[in-house]
Amino acid sequence: MLEEAGTLDELRDMLGLCTRCRLSEGRNKIVFGYGNPEARLMFVGEAPGKAEDAQGLPFVGPAGRLLDELLAGIGLARKDVYITNVVKCRPPGNRDPLPEETETCNPFLAGQIRLIRPSIVCQLGRIAASVMMKRSVQMTKMHGQRLIGPGYFNVPVFHPAAALRTPATRGLLVEDFANLKKYLDEDQAPPEPPSPEPEQMGLF
Ligand code: URA
Repeated sequence: MLEEAGTLDELRDMLGLCTRCRLSEGRNKIVFGYGNPEARLMFVGEAPGKAEDAQGLPFVGPAGRLLDELLAGIGLARKDVYITNVVKCRPPGNRDPLPEETETCNPFLAGQIRLIRPSIVCQLGRIAASVMMKRSVQMTKMHGQRLIGPGYFNVPVFHPAAALRTPATRGLLVEDFANLKKYLDEDQAPPEPPSPEPEQMGLF
């Protein structure tokens, strides 16, 4: 059914006023995603926070301001990339999303990836990286690496919110964004997507 969506707007319409999981009970606005539907670089964070839930847009709070700075540092702006989260609704009290919530939302993220066809998906933080790569990702070991994914490269980086808490992490993020720029400039062909489309299999 979701694979019938031919545009991001159609996919968003299929999400509707979603009540597929319990996150719908406490949310104000669904945060579907924002940016260039033809972006080569896509960012996936964990979940909307308070500011995002109020505005319906991803990364518009303090972590988002740092993300804007990091993008500007490599000559990019929001309009050049696509930004979303593994779950589209704010978890109560900003708790981590539960496995059943990420699983329920997964087809929409997979649909966004299918329609945008980015060459690089950059996971912002351990949770997004672990959900998308289906294993427990240790960010200290894996951040900034270009890893082969199903039809694109995964590049996990620290969450910008972590850099707001720990200044040393900010330097690592600056380095990893420089790596992202290098990967984009190298323009290495992304790996072939699996067949059938990941969305149909319910996998990334
Ligand atoms: N943190 C996230 O992971 N996503 C947002 O959209 C905002 C903050």
